[in-house]
Amino acid sequence: MVRTKALKLLGRAREQAKRAENLQPDVTRRRKYRGALEKATRLLGKVRRRIRSRRAKREIAEDVREHLKSPLLAVIAETESQHGGPVLQARPIGVFAEGYRVLRTAVDYSWPDRQSRVLVVTSTCPGEGKSLTSVNLALTLASAGARTVLVDADLRKPQIGNMLKLPKRPGVSDVLVGHSPLADARRKVTGSTLEVVVAGTTAPSPGDLITTPALERLIEALRAEFQYVVIDSPPVGAVADALILGRSSDGVVVVTGAEMVPRAAARHTLERIAASGSRVLGVVLNRARLGKHSYYSGHYYGHYYGTSPARPEAASGRVASIRGRAAG
Ligand SMILES: Nc1ncnc2c1ncn2[C@@H]1O[C@H](COP(=O)(O)OP(=O)(O)OP(=O)(O)O)[C@@H](O)[C@H]1O
Ligand SMILES: [Mg+2]
Repeated sequence: MVRTKALKLLGRAREQAKRAENLQPDVTRRRKYRGALEKATRLLGKVRRRIRSRRAKREIAEDVREHLKSPLLAVIAETESQHGGPVLQARPIGVFAEGYRVLRTAVDYSWPDRQSRVLVVTSTCPGEGKSLTSVNLALTLASAGARTVLVDADLRKPQIGNMLKLPKRPGVSDVLVGHSPLADARRKVTGSTLEVVVAGTTAPSPGDLITTPALERLIEALRAEFQYVVIDSPPVGAVADALILGRSSDGVVVVTGAEMVPRAAARHTLERIAASGSRVLGVVLNRARLGKHSYYSGHYYGHYYGTSPARPEAASGRVASIRGRAAG
């Protein structure tokens, strides 16, 4: 409908521009028609991009349901911002921020009857976007008026403090070993109602801290005060932390980096979470290039302690395509 309108507009502008070319040199008129032509071309481009993006999202949702047997909570577009951070604060509009609003709604509707909701954010491999998703989801929840706290429980690769430019301690580890009361570890984010508990002082064996009963007490204390407790965690494919944290949560959100993990690996992660007794809320497909049609690859990050969390350029031929027509 919008597309037909834009095409009509473009056709009309083209005709007018052609007519203007044939007229006596009337610079103002030609300029006017050329402007209209450019405007219509821009509009058509915008409509085409929107149609392509909607089609891709539909196909992704279908694929996730069929192959991962899990709901697709949201598709987060690849942003041009090269560095992790609360992009939402800087750019609250656009397709990137829109993805988080869709995620917020999906999360909100996951528990119609609960007062407080604790959710763990994890992924299969490192670098799929857990921390950025946690930060932006928490900010979006807080901006909608929900009392929200974000907890960095990735004690192995803490990122939340860096992303939100908060002091590194005291944090989770300091509270767990009894060196700091929880009240001192809670920090407010400037320009938001969001509160954050960063990871804290680097612990020699983070795995042991995650299993202490003190962690459960920390989560329960936050649950009593907040509507949403968003917990960033390490990837399931590397360590068991997220599975352990999942047991104290009401649901687990699995971030899947587009073109970063094979379907089988993503499926295995979802199965492991379910087998550990946690509820899988669904999948967030992150870094999707919606103009393109591929989002899984044969590439697999095996080592959590590997150096680069950057997205690999998907090697052609190793990428499974979404079914359907190739986008424009
Ligand atoms: N939608 C996106 N668009 C562009 N870049 C993104 C997007 N999501 C994440 N990134 C980038 O990818 C990198 C990894 O993201 P992030 O740190 O959130 O991943 P992670 O899963 O938490 O990694 P780790 O396993 O190391 O904790 C960061 O540089 C981040 O800025
Ligand atoms: Mg992280």
